[in-house]
Amino acid sequence: MNHLLKLSDLTSEEILEILNSADQLKYEKKNGIEHYHLKGKTLGMIFEKSSTRTRVSFEVGMYELGGNALFLSSNDLQIGRGEPVEDTARVLSRYLDGIMIRTFAQKEVEDLAKYGSIPIINGLTDYCHPCQVLADLMTIREFKSSLQGLKLCYIGDGNNMANSLIVGCIKMGMKVAIGCPKGYEPDAEIMKWASENGEFLCTEDVLEAAKDADVVYTDVWASMGQEAEANERKKIFKNYQVNDALMAVTNKDSLVMHCLPAHREEEITAKVFEQHANEIFEEAENRLHAQKAVLVKLLGDK
Ligand code: CP
Ligand code: NVA
Repeated sequence: MNHLLKLSDLTSEEILEILNSADQLKYEKKNGIEHYHLKGKTLGMIFEKSSTRTRVSFEVGMYELGGNALFLSSNDLQIGRGEPVEDTARVLSRYLDGIMIRTFAQKEVEDLAKYGSIPIINGLTDYCHPCQVLADLMTIREFKSSLQGLKLCYIGDGNNMANSLIVGCIKMGMKVAIGCPKGYEPDAEIMKWASENGEFLCTEDVLEAAKDADVVYTDVWASMGQEAEANERKKIFKNYQVNDALMAVTNKDSLVMHCLPAHREEEITAKVFEQHANEIFEEAENRLHAQKAVLVKLLGDK
C-alpha cells in the first residue's frame, strides 16, 4: 500500500491492519504513551473544500506522531491559478513526505499519485471519503466488538460517503443496504462490485433498507459543491430521514452514525441525533486515531 486514494485499492487485510493499529494508537494516547513514529516528517494538506474534522485531526495527528503538517489552501497555491497537477506533484514531492488532499475530482487525487513520488491520501473527493470510513469501521468495531455479519444501512444521498461505506463494509464482511431516492444511487460500478462480493441492497424503501440494521448511517442531502441544489434536494430527500419511525425497524441497540456536519431535521432528527451523540462523537474522535494509523503506515519507515 503506497497511497490511500480509495478503499477499493486496499485488501481486507490492509484495512484490518489499519484498524488494529488505530486501536493501539488510541490506547497509547489515552495512556500517555508517546509515539513519535514520524519524527522530522512533513505532511502537506491541500484543501479545495472546507473542513473541520479532517483538517484538525490530520494536523494534530502529525503533531502527536512527532512530525509537522502544512495547511495549503488551494486559494493560496498556484494550483488554484491553474498550475498543472503534474507539476505541483513533482515539486511538492521534493519538499514533503506525504500529501493529504481534499478536492472535487477523484482524478486530481489519482494524478497527484501518478506524477508525484510520495504517498497521497484522499481527504475527500466527490467520489469517496476513505479516511472517514476507516474511522467509521473502527468505531463500529469498538461498539459492537466485531464487524463480520453486521448490517449497515445508509439512508440518503448515494454520495461519496455511501460509495466508501459500501466498499469498506463489504470488504469487512458486513451487509449493506442503501435507502435512497431514484436517481440518487451510489456509483453504479461500486454497487455492481458489492452485489458480486457480498450482501448488498439498494432500494427506494427506507424501511426495507433499515430493517434489522445494526448500524444506521446518514449524511447531508447536499454535499459540498451542491449548494445550488440544496432547496430542490430538501424536497427530493424529505422521506429519507433517520427518525423514530426508521429506528423502530432496526435491531435493538443499533448504532447511529454520521460523518458530520449534521443538518438536524433534514437527514436526521435532533432527537435521534442526541440519543446517539455518544457514538457520533466517538466516531468523530476516531478520525484522529484512524488517520494516525494511515500516516504511520504510509509515511513511517518501512
Ligand atoms: N467528516 C468530515 O470529513 O468532516 P470535515 O468536513 O469537517 O472534515
Ligand atoms: N457528503 C459530504 C461529506 C462531508 C464530510 C460532502 O461531501 O460534503
